[in-house]
Amino acid sequence: MCGIAGYIGKKKAAELLLKSIKNLEYRGYDSVGMVTSSEGKIHIRKGAGKVDEVNAKLDFPSMPGTVGIAHTRWATHGKPSDRNAHPHISYSGKIAIAHNGIIENYLELKESLQGIEFKSDTDSEVLAHLIEKNYQGNLLKAVQLSLKMVIGTYAICVINTNSEEIVVARNGSPLAIGIGKGENFVGSDVSAFVAHTKKVIYLNDFESAEIRTNSVSIFNNEGKKISREPKTIDWDIEKAQKGGYKHFMLKEIHEQPQVVRDSISIPVFFPMKERPSRIFIVACGTAGYAGLVGKYIIEKSARIPVEVAYASEFRYAEPIIGKDDLFIAISQSGETADTLAALRLAKQKGAHTLAIINVMDSTIARESDAVIYTRAGPEIGVASTKAFISQLVVLYKLAAELSGKKYDLTTIPQKIDAILSQEEKIKETAKKYFLAHNFLYIGRNLNFPIALEGALKLKEISYIHAEGYASGEMKHGPIALVSDEVPTVAIAPRDSTYSKIVSNMQEIKARNGKIIAVASEKDGEIAKHADDILPIPTTEEDLYPLLTVVPLQLLAYYIADLRECDIDKPRNLAKSVTVE
Ligand code: G6P
Repeated sequence: MCGIAGYIGKKKAAELLLKSIKNLEYRGYDSVGMVTSSEGKIHIRKGAGKVDEVNAKLDFPSMPGTVGIAHTRWATHGKPSDRNAHPHISYSGKIAIAHNGIIENYLELKESLQGIEFKSDTDSEVLAHLIEKNYQGNLLKAVQLSLKMVIGTYAICVINTNSEEIVVARNGSPLAIGIGKGENFVGSDVSAFVAHTKKVIYLNDFESAEIRTNSVSIFNNEGKKISREPKTIDWDIEKAQKGGYKHFMLKEIHEQPQVVRDSISIPVFFPMKERPSRIFIVACGTAGYAGLVGKYIIEKSARIPVEVAYASEFRYAEPIIGKDDLFIAISQSGETADTLAALRLAKQKGAHTLAIINVMDSTIARESDAVIYTRAGPEIGVASTKAFISQLVVLYKLAAELSGKKYDLTTIPQKIDAILSQEEKIKETAKKYFLAHNFLYIGRNLNFPIALEGALKLKEISYIHAEGYASGEMKHGPIALVSDEVPTVAIAPRDSTYSKIVSNMQEIKARNGKIIAVASEKDGEIAKHADDILPIPTTEEDLYPLLTVVPLQLLAYYIADLRECDIDKPRNLAKSVTVE
């Protein structure tokens, strides 16, 4: 995830673009850059750091010209550094591009551009050279032709030395065009330009556009001009940064179909050639629950024993771990103090170490033998949602790699979309229960970790006391808590333990407990056992955690919202816990 912005008009582009990328900084903030075009020249300034830091050094507003593009980066290929910051310039210095997305076949494209000196480690730079190679006097045509050779996702913004147009295109990454009077704008979302115009045209996948001072022309996949009326948006700037959502957490929940799509193509690997004797998965909070799902799927498929531990416990438990073992650290931030300490301990004991991390170049990523980056993009809401789903996808891919088992993850994004379309129903359910003081969450097998995660989400953001249990454990203590004032959320998809959890639900009902069931949408029986149903599509048994967690995130969100909690910044919590 990155933020891109563009301006063409009569004003000083650099001044305006600086504000635009500041507003897009939530999308990524490890480096920043700007290109303007004036008097037949491209002017470029870029560097690693946040927008304000880099601007203090490079003074963007002093750049000349009334046409420009800018970028704020969240690194995927190539660590955050001055040279990897966008925009990137073509070999003769005539064309500049800013890109958001991932060019999957960039190595192949790079080979076809032999003789050209690459100045960065990014996948994106290849686009600048490719467009110049295909340029024959028409920038739009050169971009359209080049993108036909590209496999991957992109929103790109391109200018050249003639200062007459900005060319943009998208596939899989968002792009909006702001329509002004005698000036036009580009942004990854409308927060880039909402201060100047509320008229917007959204590009669809495989469309491109040529943006001039007084005109905007849109083209379809075949390069044919199409017409599209601008929409008028009624957002203020604060709302716009959240993409129109009330909170970052809600936005991040809604980003999950795309996050799964992006995560499916993450390459996975191991830091050891031999099959590990045992695997240790160590993490904190939500990342730990992803690890627990990982245990079930790796043990089931690859038959390798997996131990999951809270990082804070692992480090003091004198763990029996050594050179035949694989230690996997999972962390969104890559900075969690306990996870880092556990990693160091595992290394000291000779284990091979692998990290699954969202934030590039973070400490845990740097100190592990190998790192696999999740592709969730920046997660702003303190309660983790989209990072969790990306961690799960990586764990499924690791299990597949170890066992040869195939998981069909490709249908998951549309199934999550189907759950998100039930949002109103989930909101209505939240209205019935938001005043409860205690909640129980139960699940079995792979959905037991999801019960723990569902309960964690609720307590983190709504401050309601909630506990997750393996449903078979209810009789051994927790059922004593059941009353008509303590609702139970039962995760009960149609899987091999369905009849078992239904029995547990009946035991709760017999004691006047209210039940909210996360259940398969085609389950005609479940209504007999539950007071409320949060429906999910069916899928292969092992993949249910990718679906069952989503209604629980939304339920927690709407309960917290009804209780008027500070959802993105819950009391007493921090996004990155860098102290023990
Ligand atoms: C904090 C956050 C949680 C997160 C946990 C682990 O407690 O509030 O959302 O799951 O840290 O963070 P990490 O960055 O290591 O995934």
